[in-house]
Amino acid sequence: MSRQYNIALIPGDGIGPEVIREAVRVLKHIEKRDDRFSFAFREFPWGCDFYLRHGKMMDDDGMEILKDYDAILLGAIGSPEVPDHISLRNLLLRIRHDFDEYVNLRPIKLLEGAPTPLKDARREEIDMIFVRENSEGEYAGSGAWLYPNSPQEVVIQNGVFSRKGCERIIRYAYELARKKKRSLTSVSKGNALNYSMVFWDQIFAELGKEYPDVETHSLLVDAAAMFMVKDPARFGVVVTSNLFGDILTDLGAAITGGMGIAAGANLNPEKTFPSMFEPIHGSAPDIAGKGIADPIASIWAVSQMMDFFGYEDWGEKILRAIEDVLKEKQSLTPDLCGSASTEECTEAICRLL
Ligand code: NAI
Ligand code: MG
Repeated sequence: MSRQYNIALIPGDGIGPEVIREAVRVLKHIEKRDDRFSFAFREFPWGCDFYLRHGKMMDDDGMEILKDYDAILLGAIGSPEVPDHISLRNLLLRIRHDFDEYVNLRPIKLLEGAPTPLKDARREEIDMIFVRENSEGEYAGSGAWLYPNSPQEVVIQNGVFSRKGCERIIRYAYELARKKKRSLTSVSKGNALNYSMVFWDQIFAELGKEYPDVETHSLLVDAAAMFMVKDPARFGVVVTSNLFGDILTDLGAAITGGMGIAAGANLNPEKTFPSMFEPIHGSAPDIAGKGIADPIASIWAVSQMMDFFGYEDWGEKILRAIEDVLKEKQSLTPDLCGSASTEECTEAICRLL
């Protein structure tokens, strides 16, 4: 019997709608070729334009409506006309937080044909999976702004690290490393962050006792950044905090073909709430409306969504089609030195699927 998946689309701002259209095109292409599943889409107009018209980033009952969907596909949020801390926090970060999408899963894999600025790097040497804590840490929004506009002005931004929060993300990473038969590296900074990261390291070591079969490493975040460039082959699965993960995965995107390619999944592994899949790039106002945004990142996000739904065969096939289009070099967008449009690139991927 065919299962119908209800997908909420939040195209958002800038190139968001341009790339989400392409993600949907790929999903419509594959649903015709497999009778195990079909998709029903509903699009929501939330984002910065919505904010400028209504004074809010989403409808008041938005979270209530989204709750019943199987997954959310998000384009990008951000406009020069709305401060980023308002737009990001009230839509993207709100969904991640309120739906307890505590795992941010980002593949950092150099596909054949993708450009890398690392001289002499071979494809098989750059193949890591980042597991970024996605619900607390430095992005918990905890702090204070005291005595504003006075000489005594003080701002405090707290890092929030709960035992529950650290244990569940680190456990997720151990399980993933075991399943994929890869090593697990924890990235922290216990030498300088003497509460949060000492606690993190302690939990990493504690849980490690339950996974004697998983090879583990611990790195300070500065050394990890250096090794991602100098010796990326040493990484398999990597687990880290919200802030460190945010920064290191952009570095990861840069060494595997750039922002036009990189995707990320925000997972609620228990499936109590919908998970959200997105290209990791922003709204790219500099190229919005030109029809040249690279659709690969959002199509890779679709591949992650199919993995999460349990159709890993399709996740793999979509990734291989992306790799084939990169190898062919005939249908790439300008960020990858091609001259194809967003739509032409997707059509080539569908042809290769
Ligand atoms: P950005 O990712 O939008 O753009 C950075 C550079 O990468 C630009 O030169 C852009 O043209 C290029 N680029 C990004 N995606 C591309 C694609 N698919 N194809 C070809 N080139 C692509 O980051 P930026 O400029 O720092 O931020 C712009 C806005 O997006 C800001 O408002 C920011 O807050 C927001 N933002 C939103 C995110 C999200 O919704 N997840 C993530 C990052 C930024
Ligand atoms: Mg980021």
